[in-house]
Amino acid sequence: MWNRQSLHDLIQSKLQGHKFIVVANREPFIHQYKDDTIEVVRPASGMASALDPIMDASEGTWIAHGSGGADREVVDEFDRIRVPPEDPKYTLRRIWLTKEQERGFYDGMANDGIYPLCLVTFTPPHFRPSDWEQYKAVNRLYADAVLQETGGDPAFVFIQDYHFGLLPRMLKEANPKLIVAQFWHIPWPNREVFRVFPWKEELIEGLLGNDLLGFHIRYHCQNFLDTIDRMIEARVDPEHFNIERAGHTTLVRPFPIGVDYEELTAVADSPAVKAAMAKWRKRIDRRVEFIGVGIERLDYTKGIPQRLQAIDYLFEHYPEYRRRMAFVQVAVPSRLRVPAYQRLAQEVDSLVEQINFRWRDRGWEPIVYVKEYQGPTDMTALHRLGRFCVISSLHDGMNLVAKEFIASRTDDDGVLILSRFTGSARELPEALLVNPFAVHEIADAMHQAIIMPDAERQRRMKKLREQVQKYNVYRWGGKVLSELLKFEFQE
Ligand code: G6P
Repeated sequence: MWNRQSLHDLIQSKLQGHKFIVVANREPFIHQYKDDTIEVVRPASGMASALDPIMDASEGTWIAHGSGGADREVVDEFDRIRVPPEDPKYTLRRIWLTKEQERGFYDGMANDGIYPLCLVTFTPPHFRPSDWEQYKAVNRLYADAVLQETGGDPAFVFIQDYHFGLLPRMLKEANPKLIVAQFWHIPWPNREVFRVFPWKEELIEGLLGNDLLGFHIRYHCQNFLDTIDRMIEARVDPEHFNIERAGHTTLVRPFPIGVDYEELTAVADSPAVKAAMAKWRKRIDRRVEFIGVGIERLDYTKGIPQRLQAIDYLFEHYPEYRRRMAFVQVAVPSRLRVPAYQRLAQEVDSLVEQINFRWRDRGWEPIVYVKEYQGPTDMTALHRLGRFCVISSLHDGMNLVAKEFIASRTDDDGVLILSRFTGSARELPEALLVNPFAVHEIADAMHQAIIMPDAERQRRMKKLREQVQKYNVYRWGGKVLSELLKFEFQE
């Protein structure tokens, strides 16, 4: 079983003093003004938590966009700061973007172009040449920063996600001694879908600069191999998942990401969570017997409207639950400068209002809608209050909320209703798997979750917990790094 220590030991023994650089758009610590002081916050990000133990052990450098209002105040003349603030272990190097770069690179190309292209949820991607120019320029900015940090020395570089499709090639061209890996945290679409991307050859060339390219599941690896096979001259080895192009080989591998099971379990059993549960319970009509929960970013891939429609369907077809069931939906505002996200926010507001208006009765409201980010204590408290948790993503690379819900259920209770179109569904067959596009399936699963006998709920949850404990975040880090640190530096 992988844990923080075994991952730590692996990194220390294999890294052997070489430099280790992580590149991710999100930074692990954000400095912002609060009244007259500067406070530091950790953004809620599964990716940041997954990298935390790796950074700790490698004592490397994390290069990311400095997005906090006070970020510039606290860095040194090289834009660096040692973190975590309470016990510095590694370096955070901040990159500054202009508003135009943020609009073109982050809002435009990454989140309005590549993200919907790869997620394929009937939200069309938009491809603007000006965004592509900014994407290139910002990838170049990061390449310069990596090269500055490595200073010509051999180093391992571990890149995160779809913001940096061109970076691997830029790095390899500038310094072939670098060993470069990338993890693509979202799906890779099939080749027919990918064909619509206007700059497909350039993006693929960029990605093939990697020595190692990881996806959550095998299916995404296969899609990638298939895309390459049809699109450019390259030798694709479908058996070993290798791609050879112009004398360079890229290994393509699945690494299913997980959560910090032990940590989440400890939080779940804390008195603070108990207190938070009591606080949340008070917000819900006392006659309610069954609570459902859903917690995520307000993102169109998450199937929030479908879930709300399922609640409406449930009260219509299962009238026995009226006044006895309530659903707490936490949706954290995200990427609100992108029109698709603005439209979703309006749609969800209006659905909540319509459904609550239709069914509200003598002080009972079926949906409690919370639009603010909730910290780990409140999130865990809500997960523990739920008779069931609904993850109705229309498509998702993995979905870590499913695993967080399971890890928090130290009482072996609660039912997970999970979309078949998440990476996690492949690992968690004891969940009630649903097709989120078929709203009645979600509603029927809610009914199943409510009538499921105690023993059955426990049996399923125990199995789910074993899985999440074993395939934890340390295993993810351990597997990626075992593969990455195998590469040897060329003279
Ligand atoms: C997706 C990406 C992650 C990202 C997260 C939050 O899951 O794969 O890399 O951290 O969304 O998105 P944001 O745009 O807020 O960083």
